[in-house]
Amino acid sequence: MVAPTVPLPAMVVLLVAVSAMALVSGASMRGRHGQGQQQGQLRMGFYSSSCPAAEKIIGDYVRLHVRRAPTVAPALLRLHYHDCFVSGCDGSILLNSTGTGGQQAEKDAAPNLTLRGFDLIDRVKTAVEEACPGVVSCADVLALAARDAVAAIGGPSWRVPTGRRDGTVSSVQDALRELPNPAMSFTELAALFAGKGLGVRDLVWLSGAHTIGVAHCSSFADRLYGYPGAGNGTDPSLDATYAANLRQHKCRTPISNSLVEMNPGSFLTFDLGYYRAVLKHRGLLGSDAALVTDAAARADIASVVASPPEVFFQVFGRSMAKLGAVQVKTGSQGEIRKSCAVVNSSYQN
Ligand code: HEM
Repeated sequence: MVAPTVPLPAMVVLLVAVSAMALVSGASMRGRHGQGQQQGQLRMGFYSSSCPAAEKIIGDYVRLHVRRAPTVAPALLRLHYHDCFVSGCDGSILLNSTGTGGQQAEKDAAPNLTLRGFDLIDRVKTAVEEACPGVVSCADVLALAARDAVAAIGGPSWRVPTGRRDGTVSSVQDALRELPNPAMSFTELAALFAGKGLGVRDLVWLSGAHTIGVAHCSSFADRLYGYPGAGNGTDPSLDATYAANLRQHKCRTPISNSLVEMNPGSFLTFDLGYYRAVLKHRGLLGSDAALVTDAAARADIASVVASPPEVFFQVFGRSMAKLGAVQVKTGSQGEIRKSCAVVNSSYQN
C-alpha cells in the first residue's frame, strides 16, 4: 500500500520509472545516449553548426501537415521503419527505380507498395535544401520527421541523434529478403529483428506502432478466408466475433482491398488499445497475433497494459532510438543526396 502522503504525480513518476526499468532490463541495449552524446557514430545536434535551422524546419513542416492530415503520422513512422530494415537507415527506401534495364528499387517491392509519405519527405527535404544545400541527409530528414509526426499526434518522442549518410543502392530483392511479413511466426520475426541487432522486446514494443494507422484487407485476408486447416477458413487465433465482423463489414471478399483501422476506434491516437486488442486475440495482422504466442512477450504486454501509458511511451521510444541506429552509414560513407528520390550521380537540376 502506498502511503497516502505521497502526491499522485510523484507516485506515477515512480511507477513509470520502476515499470520501465523492469520492462527494458534484459533487452539487448546497445548503450544509452543523450543530448551531446554519441550513439555509435551518430550524435545529438550533428547539424548544430552546419545547418542550425534543420531540425526546426523539419519539425515545423511536419507539425503543420500532421495537423491538416493526421494520417501522415503512421505513414512516416512506417516509412522510417521500412528504411531502417533494408540496408540500414540510409534513405534507400526513398530512391526511385532507375528505369528500363536499371535497378528495381526497394519502394517497388510488394511490402512497400502500401507505403505513403514519399512526397511529403521530398517537400521537407526541399525546404531544408533551401536553407543549407547539400548538408542534411534524406535518412536524417526521415528519422526526424517520423519522430516529430508521432509526437504531433500526442504520441511519444525519442532522441534522434543525427549524422546518417544516404545510401546509393536500393534493391527490390533486399527489401523482399529483409522485411518481415505479416504471416511470420514469433520465432521468424524475432530472428529477423535479431539480424538488425534488435531484441525480442524491441519486436514487442516496436509492433506497438500498430496502435496507429491502417492496413489493407489484402494484408490479412489469409486469416479470414481459406486459412489452412481451419474448417470455416478463419485463423483460429483470431477472435471469432471480430473475424466475422471483418468479413461482413470490412473485407467482404478475399480480394477486397478496403482499409481497416489497426486499432479500431483510436487509430490516430497513440494509446494502449493495440496491446489490449492483441491480448484479446483481436490483433489484425498475423504478426500481431504472433506476439501473444510467446509467453514472455505476452507477460510483457500484459504488464504494459496494466501500467500508465507513459510506460509504453518510454519503452517504445527506447526501441525507436535503437531502430534509428540500425546499420547507419556515417562519416565518408554514402553521400548527402540533393534529391531524396535519386542518387547524386543521376541528379539533374
Ligand atoms: C513486426 C513486423 C511487422 C510486420 C509484419 C508489419 C506489417 C505491416 C503491414 C502488413 C501493414 C499494413 C500495410 C497495408 O496493408 O497498407 C503495416 C502497417 C503499419 N506498420 Fe507495420 N509491421 C511490422 C512492424 C512495424 C514496425 C516495427 C513499425 C514501426 C516502428 C510499424 C509501423 C506500421 C505503421 C505505422 C503502419 C500503418 C501505416 C499506415 O497507416 O499507412 N510496423 N505493418
